[in-house]
Amino acid sequence: MPQDASPLPVTPPKTMSERADALEEQMMHEMEHILTKSTLHYLSDGKVTMDGGMDLLAKNPGKYFLLGEDKRLPRMPAKPTLLDYFKLRFASTSHVLQSATHALKGGHSDKIVMACLLHDIAVVSFIRCDHGYWGAQMIEPYVDEEVAWAVKMHQALRFFPDESVGYTYPEMYLKLFGPHYQPEPYIVAEYERARRHKWYMTARIVTMNDIYSFDPNARVDIDAFADIIGRNFRQPEEGLGFDNSPSAHMWRTMMWPSRFL
Ligand SMILES: [Fe+2]
Ligand SMILES: [Fe+2]
Repeated sequence: MPQDASPLPVTPPKTMSERADALEEQMMHEMEHILTKSTLHYLSDGKVTMDGGMDLLAKNPGKYFLLGEDKRLPRMPAKPTLLDYFKLRFASTSHVLQSATHALKGGHSDKIVMACLLHDIAVVSFIRCDHGYWGAQMIEPYVDEEVAWAVKMHQALRFFPDESVGYTYPEMYLKLFGPHYQPEPYIVAEYERARRHKWYMTARIVTMNDIYSFDPNARVDIDAFADIIGRNFRQPEEGLGFDNSPSAHMWRTMMWPSRFL
């Protein structure tokens, strides 16, 4: 008898990313609400796509989209402070804490220490691209103008040596970006503007304390900076995110990153 030549239907094994999607979908079904991701999450995965409202509603009968806290994340207090964001939302704080400690040990002013403490908070909480600009906007309503300016400008200044103060192009950048990277024209232009600015040296000192070769065993706690923060960060009474400042929405987004709107 001739054997049946038609092959049995075989389900191809799932790829890592299909398995991750399936797991995510399963998790979403277990949640009380429908969770979504912002388009930026997809863009940074190389996909020009977005979560569709009506599709997801149809797949999740009886559920509504999330418009509040995401229970997978640490719970924020009703009136969050900067310290709460440090402890509950910033993914890694050792670099900024060590940078601020270095500035403190170097005898620098509160302004410099604050700028060092806050210089990379955009990276650890929010976004990498143009982190100096995002970080400066986040803190602008709450700190001295010079501190926000230094946070913004450290991004460009990091790429340019200043022999007068012994700042050289970071070894780490050679490792991270390769030997041939040249800053884009907008960064060069920003550097040139910063160079002529009256606060140039404030931002430059931030870059000089922005170092990675620390004692790996050094442990610094954000509570060690509570006094400096108290003196130099205007903590809003309503809570950071609920104070109607020009950047309150950015803090709320960190608090509730998966809100539908
Ligand atoms: Fe930075
Ligand atoms: Fe840094």
